[in-house]
Parts: sequence; structure tokens; C-alpha cells
Amino acid sequence: MAAVKPSDYTNQVTVTDEVAEFSADVMEEITSHLEKYPPDRSRSALIPLLFLIQRERGYIDNPGVNFLAKFLNLEVTDVWETATFYSMFNMHRVGRHHIQICKTLSCKIMGEPDITDHICGKLGIKPGETTPDGKFTVSLVECLGSCGTAPMMQIGFDYHEDLTLDKVDRILSECE
Ligand code: FES
Repeated sequence: MAAVKPSDYTNQVTVTDEVAEFSADVMEEITSHLEKYPPDRSRSALIPLLFLIQRERGYIDNPGVNFLAKFLNLEVTDVWETATFYSMFNMHRVGRHHIQICKTLSCKIMGEPDITDHICGKLGIKPGETTPDGKFTVSLVECLGSCGTAPMMQIGFDYHEDLTLDKVDRILSECE
């Protein structure tokens, strides 16, 4: 089976007016985020709510964005421009383990190309692709703010630093 490419999803996105719906429990959580900010600063809740949309819907999708625009009284484009600015938000479905390898200068000169080749070779995919079993997605991202311990990568919310090929093998073998 061929690796799944992001374009398999993004090229097929149909922009609709559909608005995501959430359970009462999730709505309570959404409202609790809003309560952390002054009423005239509700758009400050956008980033935590984008995380919540991603958790609930798997990625930042069109109905989720429509929901946030309506809920925070923003333009749909305001939500999309924030969501697409940060690499921590996914615009397509990713694997169970999302490997984000930093490709910026410090990591680049400390061995990122070898690390990327090693991981991609091992998984049989290219950056931007997901393994056919849906277990891993590999992305190349800009600086993750851990330049002093380059080369590094992020898997889910965890940072893995001072990478070597052996260390990468160990980390991947621990991914369930
Ligand atoms: S350059 Fe890789 S973390 Fe900053």
C-alpha cells in the first residue's frame, strides 16, 4: 500500500458552511477557556481552542474552523490564518505518532539531514507523508526553540534532543 500524502487530503477539501458540534462536556471545556480572558479579549482563547478542535476532530478541519469563528465572533479567515501559521496545528489527518524534525540552521548543521534520511528510510516514507498503517507521520518544521540541544525533533508533545541515529532508533522502537 502506498504512503499517504497530505495532498491526498488537502486537494480534496471542500469548503462548506458546516459547523462542528460538540458534546455538553466538551462545550463546558470550551466555555471554561473563554472565561480565562476579559469579555472584549475573547479572541485570545483562539490558540487553546484550536488545540481542543484538533484533539476532538483529529485535525483542524473546515467545520471546526467555522465553529470557532462563530463562537469567538471572528472571521473564518482570522481562524485559518492563525491555524496555518503554527506547525503545531495540522491541516490534515496525521499518524498516531507525529514526528516533527527541526530543519532550521542549528539542527541542520548538527546533522538534521542524516536524521531525516534515517527516519524516512526506516519508515519508508518521505517528509510530509504518513505510513500506510497510520502509525507515523514525518514533517520537517522550522525552529522548535531548542537550538542548544540540536539536532532535535518533537513527537506529539515531547521533545527529543541531542539526537544520534542510535537514539532515534531507540525512540522509534518505544513508539507503540
Ligand atoms: S534550530 Fe532546531 S531547535 Fe532551533
